[in-house]
Amino acid sequence: MLISATNLIAGYGGEPVLNGVNIELGSGRIGVIVGPNGAGKSTALKCLFGLIKIDAGKVILNGDNITRVAPDRRVGLGIAYVPQEHNIFPSLTVQENLEMGAFIRRDDFSDVIERTFELFPPLQQKRFDVAGQLSGGQRQMVAIGRALMIEPRLLLLDEPTVGLSPAFVQDIIDRIIAIAKSGIGVLVVEQNAKRALEIADTGFVLANGRNLYTDSGENLLNNPDVAKSFLGA
Ligand SMILES: Nc1ncnc2c1ncn2[C@@H]1O[C@H](COP(=O)(O)OP(=O)(O)O)[C@@H](O)[C@H]1O
Ligand SMILES: [Mg+2]
Repeated sequence: MLISATNLIAGYGGEPVLNGVNIELGSGRIGVIVGPNGAGKSTALKCLFGLIKIDAGKVILNGDNITRVAPDRRVGLGIAYVPQEHNIFPSLTVQENLEMGAFIRRDDFSDVIERTFELFPPLQQKRFDVAGQLSGGQRQMVAIGRALMIEPRLLLLDEPTVGLSPAFVQDIIDRIIAIAKSGIGVLVVEQNAKRALEIADTGFVLANGRNLYTDSGENLLNNPDVAKSFLGA
């Protein structure tokens, strides 16, 4: 298993927000976390990246216990995290944003930049444009592209399609499929639950800081209880 988080209890100092969350994902797989606002989806991602202290439970990356490892070291271990907001440098160009993503690298990463432009063709023409002037969908591409610069094993995406028009939502979803095909495990928190579960190898439905359902995306989509409560069906 690429990442395995077991019985996570964590929060922000008061009552725990996560009350026993379990997340498992293999390399090249897509995991999708859905659930109502405030369920703890973003908090779960932050735990996997090490941004908040884990009170109990553990996080295992490729067999290594990283529960107490700081975020900067997790980057070195191959975890990339794209937060929901403030995930680009708006005053820098697209190219400079990608270079910032590679700041921990000491090697030649020009081929990774070129591959990123192949993955996101719309960015190619905008290469020397200031990122803050791009459309919402293109800004998300920059954010994801920047995260890919470390050539991660695990990519954590917090609501990459929020606020995007349907065409751009599909565009981002297609990119997520392509990224996973390259062997990276992609764990994505999504409001577009139906669309996201359609591509999910595993779906995690969180509510009140717990897994309410954990199953294949297909099984969750076909589960009438999940559909009624979480898919607007
Ligand atoms: N920085 C924070 N400090 C204190 N409480 C927070 C913080 N971030 C989130 N919370 C609380 O944690 C709970 C879960 O939040 P979050 O993980 O962001 O939910 P979701 O992403 O599922 O909408 C909410 O009750 C929220 O108010
Ligand atoms: Mg959130």
